[in-house]
Amino acid sequence: MQQAIAILDSGVGGLTVAKEVMRQLPQEKIIYFGDTARTPYGPRSAEEVIRFTHQIVDYLLQFQPKMIVIACNTATAVAMEEIRSRLSVPVVGVIHPGARAAIKTTRNHVVGVIGTEGTIYSRAYEVALRQISPQIQVMSLACPRFVPLVERGMFRSDHTRHVVASSLEPLRQVPMDCLILGCTHYPYLSDIIGDVMGPGVTLISSADETAREISTILYHKGMLATSSNYPVHQFFCSGDPWMFKQIAQSWLGEQIKVTPVVWQVP
Ligand code: SIN
Repeated sequence: MQQAIAILDSGVGGLTVAKEVMRQLPQEKIIYFGDTARTPYGPRSAEEVIRFTHQIVDYLLQFQPKMIVIACNTATAVAMEEIRSRLSVPVVGVIHPGARAAIKTTRNHVVGVIGTEGTIYSRAYEVALRQISPQIQVMSLACPRFVPLVERGMFRSDHTRHVVASSLEPLRQVPMDCLILGCTHYPYLSDIIGDVMGPGVTLISSADETAREISTILYHKGMLATSSNYPVHQFFCSGDPWMFKQIAQSWLGEQIKVTPVVWQVP
């Protein structure tokens, strides 16, 4: 099976998933699409996010991927079931893997979730967590200021530290022992989030668990790549390719080529 795994996100957030897929499945080719012209998705209506997700999936289908990964929590929350019902290839989201990882980690059954407004108001994490463990206590908080900072590459500035600390203040007194980073952009800020929440709170990024789910599905379907050659990944973005490339190269630790995709915005 030499077809690629297609990964999409509103911007650079899904690269946290892509990086983990590259680490766990180095023989798999990745085609990545970041909708940087229309990021962030969090404050947008569900109707808009669904429309954008269909548009990106249609774009990616020209490459005949063997799997679609919706590496955006906001899009997973509102669009995944619809996308899944119209495609014959497997479609993987990031919410269930993140919820499973949190359940495995928590000892006191109090779990925090931070995400975009779209993800938090959808209550998708609460539903996913309670499906697995009905007695779990979930404290959710929307952090709408994080994604724009990440898209500007501001991972360590004093301003970012201030925004993260003030946004997370409502969760500081909650006796949670793990916090789900319910947005694929947030792992870029995990050092600061970890400092703010303290050593007693384990941060859960869905990237690792999503990559494991991808691996399991491909294995069970007999769809794992068989070539031992290192694949050449492809990256597309709808906004400024320069900024996307800077962030992607520093996050992935390798040189990449980015192809800009121009379409009508919004
Ligand atoms: C966003 O575009 O607002 C964030 C993407 C995500 O929810 O992971």
